[in-house]
Amino acid sequence: MIYVIRSILTKALVVYIVLVISTLMFSLMNSAIAGEIIPSNRTVPLNDSGEQITLTTQELMQGQSKFNSSCAQCHIDGGTKTNPDVDLGLQTLANATPARDNIEGMLDYLTYPTTYDGLRSLAELHPSTLRSDIFPIMRDLNEDDLNAIAGYILAQPNIIGDQWAGGKPKR
Ligand code: HEC
Repeated sequence: MIYVIRSILTKALVVYIVLVISTLMFSLMNSAIAGEIIPSNRTVPLNDSGEQITLTTQELMQGQSKFNSSCAQCHIDGGTKTNPDVDLGLQTLANATPARDNIEGMLDYLTYPTTYDGLRSLAELHPSTLRSDIFPIMRDLNEDDLNAIAGYILAQPNIIGDQWAGGKPKR
């Protein structure tokens, strides 16, 4: 009898140890995936005077999720469906007037979108926080979300390289 109990206990112990080890390994793997993006790849221009900001991995993930739900229908993989020349690649953003290749420039676009030459307002054509009456998707995005989206767009070339907006500028 005592042997039976002992063997059951031993088996239970083995199962328990295997479970604990696999849980530990799983969480280690997860943190390795989340921590994969090194800080230099998460560092993006903040404004056009050369200041930079390093986003947290958490912010990047928030940016990705909000980008996918609010922007990707037109900007999948950093392209622009109805105007492929004006994509979200770094060089294209840099050559816009005013430059959009930094967080502040991008946030400005999401408030006052303009044509690529900066001459005309696109407020009635492009989603912006000012016109959330005609673009309801903008109502779900708070300031943190917009910052995270801008950071995500600017960090993507560091993270996936040429897969973002095809790598090279079209204008
Ligand atoms: C309904 C389609 C649509 C949606 C949704 C959309 N965009 Fe756009 N976006 C465009 C188009 C079209 C252009 C090019 C406008 C032009 O002709 O200059 C553009 C241009 C831009 C530009 C300027 C790019 C440059 O190189 O100067 C930025 C930045 C931008 N979008 C960011 C966003 C973000 C961020 C979101 C999500 C919050 C978003 N867009 C949602 C269609 C869209």
